Parts: sequence; structure tokens; C-alpha cells
Amino acid sequence: RPRVLSGIQPTAGSFHLGNYLGAVRQWVALQEDHDAFYCVVDLHAITVEQNPKELRQNTRVSAAQLLALGIDPDRATLFVQSHVPEHAQLGWLMQCMTGFGEAARMTQFKDKSARQEQSVGVGLFTYPILQAADILLYQAHYVPVGEDQRQHLELTRDLATRFNSRYGKTFRLPEAYIVKDTAKIFDLQEPTAKMSKSVPGGVVELLEDPKRSAKKIRSAVTDTGREIIFDVENKPGVSNLLTIYSALTGRTVESLVLDYEGKGYGDLKKDLGEVFTEWVTPVQERVRTYLDDVASLDKILARGAERARDVASVTLRRSYEKIGFVLPE
Ligand code: TYM
Repeated sequence: RPRVLSGIQPTAGSFHLGNYLGAVRQWVALQEDHDAFYCVVDLHAITVEQNPKELRQNTRVSAAQLLALGIDPDRATLFVQSHVPEHAQLGWLMQCMTGFGEAARMTQFKDKSARQEQSVGVGLFTYPILQAADILLYQAHYVPVGEDQRQHLELTRDLATRFNSRYGKTFRLPEAYIVKDTAKIFDLQEPTAKMSKSVPGGVVELLEDPKRSAKKIRSAVTDTGREIIFDVENKPGVSNLLTIYSALTGRTVESLVLDYEGKGYGDLKKDLGEVFTEWVTPVQERVRTYLDDVASLDKILARGAERARDVASVTLRRSYEKIGFVLPE
């Protein structure tokens, strides 16, 4: 079975709708017929300062959300990145393969460092290189992510190619798995910007009170005119709502457009608020159930880490050998 790997940061505690529709929804689908590895990337989270208590809590909350959203720990390997030391170890090898200018071209670093109020750490700069190690350790065929990760995937392929040509074939070249329709969910208040916690405003959080989400949806910025049609250029706000509506219900955008013929933006927003509430309420209940039993949750993660290490340690050992390290007996 083809292998997939992806990761999500525990930084924020609650995931937002962009994380779910852009990535996690695909993770759930892919676990059916792929050998899937999904990790909560706590090593990546500390590239900006974290409160230790919050990081610990948010890591568990993230794992609980993945389970509540449908990741099945019997089918997929769900783990915490820091439980598998090979990530940091291969990360170092990859840093030594990366050009300074190559790393400096990463647009996400430029955005993030520009927004940082405190001084910017080197970890934020080398962040995408650690991400490359995450992927390459598992010899992943596909990496399900949102559009904003495309450049990091290209770096990953470049590093794998460079390593392979210097030292002999070691890593599989992974492909980004990006579902076009939901690859970029937009902010509800600023529908030309990506939905993101770092630009607060129109962000729908999965763990907030659904009443609050419904209100955010009702007050989403829509466009001039009154017709409900899908037109990303001229009607980014309405189109974003249609994308979300379609993804949450499984209905096509075309059928929604037909349904809302002659109706107003208000109707669409009110209905979408209800659709979201209905979808998220049982998710929140399941999250609570997982968090009520932290011992079992930690056990699931420990089992995942063990399976992940079985794979990761083989790749790390092979890379050490190729690069010329004396292998420990
Ligand atoms: P992170 O934690 O920022 O986001 C997790 C996933 O959510 C996607 N995403 C979106 N998709 C559509 N619309 C949006 N508005 C939106 N916002 C976020 C992201 O593309 C991502 O897939 N660097 C990664 C974490 C990572 C990783 C990895 C991913 C670390 N190692 C290895 C893949 C493979 C990140 O910061 O994701």
C-alpha cells in the first residue's frame, strides 16, 4: 500500500476549519487504502516561544481532535513527533544538505518572521528542513496538505534528490497531495487571505462555542451584488462560503447554487451556520471524551510512536551509513 505522511502543529490548541478541510479531511480518507502516518509536530511548535503547560495540553488536545475527526489509530499510525527522536536526527542531516539561500527563499519563513514580535529564532528559519526530514523518514509517496505547504514539499524533493545523487538512492521522492477545491480556505472577514490563526478575525475554530462560529459565519464579509454564484475572482466571500458548505455536506457547489437561486446572502450564511453546528457538535463531544481519559490517549500515542520508530529507525540508519558514519553496533 502506498505510504502517506502528514503533520499538524499543536500551537493553537483548537484546529480551524482550514486545517480540517485543507488537510485532516484528506488524512481520514487516505487511511482507508494507504499506510498512513500522522503526527502532531511539537518540535515544529517550539520554533516560536511556547508556554510549557499550554504546549503539553495543546499536544493532547490536537491528538484528541485528530481522533475525534476520524483518524483511526488501528488503521493509521498517530504519534507525537518528539516521541520519535529520528525526526531531529535526520533533521540535522538535512540541514547539512541545505543551502543558506535555498532556506532563505521559503516564503512562509518570510511571512512568519515578519509577523514575529519577539526576536526570530534560527529554528523558525530551518523549520522546513525539519519538515523534509519528517516526510523522508517514512519514504512517503504522498503528503496530504493545504496549498500553503507546496513550497516546503518542493524543498523536500530537492533535498531528497541531492542526497540520493551524492550518496546513492536513499529516499523516495514524495508528492504533495493537494485537493484543489479545499486547498485554501479563506478568512471570513478577509476572503482574499488564507484562514489562519495568526491573522485573527474570520477564523472558525473547531473547539469554540458553535454559537460563536455560527455568528462569525453570519457576519462573514460577502461581496457586492446579491446573486449567489461561484466566482472566486469577483465574489471571493460567497465562493469561500460555498466551498465550505459543499465540503461539509458532500453536495456539489453547482447544486447549492441552484438551490439558492433567488435567495440572499443572509439565507446562505444562516444555513451554513447550522450545517457547521450540526457537524461540529458531535466532534466536540468526542474530543471531550478522549480528553477525559488522558491515560488511554497517551497509550494510543505511545503505540503510534513505537510503530513510527520501527520505520523511521530503518531510514535513519541507512542514511547514517550512506553519509559515512561509523554505525554503532
Ligand atoms: P499547520 O499546522 O500550519 O497546518 C496543518 C495543515 O492545515 C493546512 N491549512 C490549510 N488548508 C487550507 N486552507 C487553509 N486556510 C489552511 N490553513 C492551514 C496546512 O496546509 C497543513 O496541511 N508545516 C506544517 C506541519 C508539518 C508537516 C510536516 C506537514 C510539519 N511536518 C510534514 C506535512 C508533512 C504546518 O505548519 O501545518
